[in-house]
Amino acid sequence: MPSSTDSVPRRVAADEAGVAEAVGLLAAGGIVVIPTETVYGLAADAANPAAVARVFAAKGRPALNPLIVHVASFGMAERYGQFGELGRHLARRFWPGPLTLVVPRRAGAPLAGAVTAGLPTVALRVPAHPVMQAVVARLGRAVAAPSANVSGRLSPTRAAHVAGLDVPLVLDAGPCAAGLESTILKLGADGALTLLRPGAVPLETLVAEAGRPVAPAGAGVEAPGMLLRHYAPRLPLLLEVTEPEAGMFLIGFGPVAGDLNLSPTGDLAEAAAGLFDALHRAEASGAESIGVAPIPRHGLGLAIHDRLRRGSAAGCV
Ligand code: TXA
Ligand code: MG
Repeated sequence: MPSSTDSVPRRVAADEAGVAEAVGLLAAGGIVVIPTETVYGLAADAANPAAVARVFAAKGRPALNPLIVHVASFGMAERYGQFGELGRHLARRFWPGPLTLVVPRRAGAPLAGAVTAGLPTVALRVPAHPVMQAVVARLGRAVAAPSANVSGRLSPTRAAHVAGLDVPLVLDAGPCAAGLESTILKLGADGALTLLRPGAVPLETLVAEAGRPVAPAGAGVEAPGMLLRHYAPRLPLLLEVTEPEAGMFLIGFGPVAGDLNLSPTGDLAEAAAGLFDALHRAEASGAESIGVAPIPRHGLGLAIHDRLRRGSAAGCV
């Protein structure tokens, strides 16, 4: 478990001075919370075993759950992973952006062993957020960064959501634009594609760009971390609710107004961006349970439902 569950880390603006301080901490083997376009990440120098160990300790993360490696460019990604033609195409099309590609790890890649949890593969992404980009570029090395939440809790999409982590610094750049973690796609040696985690790049967009089918998540293969208790709010979470029960905080969508509405116009991108913030607010509201209005399952709705399903599963609250 994290060493300090009540600590509130120091927040500073993600300006020139903030970025310089963060890079200094990372270079010295420390951990720092950095904004990305998906969620806030708990960053460490991916080549430094002690720094990576601090990430696992701060989150209370099981050692079998590997981390995503953030790089500044496709050229830098090639130092860590091996890309075939399809991988190169997808990287060109979606990077920088919220797509994580799982590819064979390159022999001799400068990564602490715990980053890949002993797997022969590595999860790589070039983030689009200018702050994370600046941090990686200035450090000059890959940054390992899981979401900056205690393992199994809600992901942070605002600096103020970061709590319970023993970390000295949070760079605050306001709310994350996408609000859902990256889509994780595994590239098989035979060109087979597997969706390990639905996320901020919709499945339909991936299939269209890849020009071949993508085996859905849950079809036997998943990211190791997806097998664990995840995205759980502290209250019981009920889905497809149109009429709230007594004591329930209702998260609305479209025509279901609720206590707050993810998108009155039914826009899934707007709903995705506000999802974790809505769950954080519901948790803090003093309600006894959380309800969520019906939300379509296509496009970004797939990832929204994935997060809600994990948060509502029996034993997850
Ligand atoms: O949007 C995101 O991806 C955010 C930001 C900070 O970049 N990061 C994030 O990291 O969501 P995390 O640690 O919460 O989720 C990473 C997922 C885990 O489910 C892990 O099991 C999976 O990626 N993963 C990492 N390396 C893998 C590998 N080699 N093979 C399969 N899954 C892997
Ligand atoms: Mg996470």
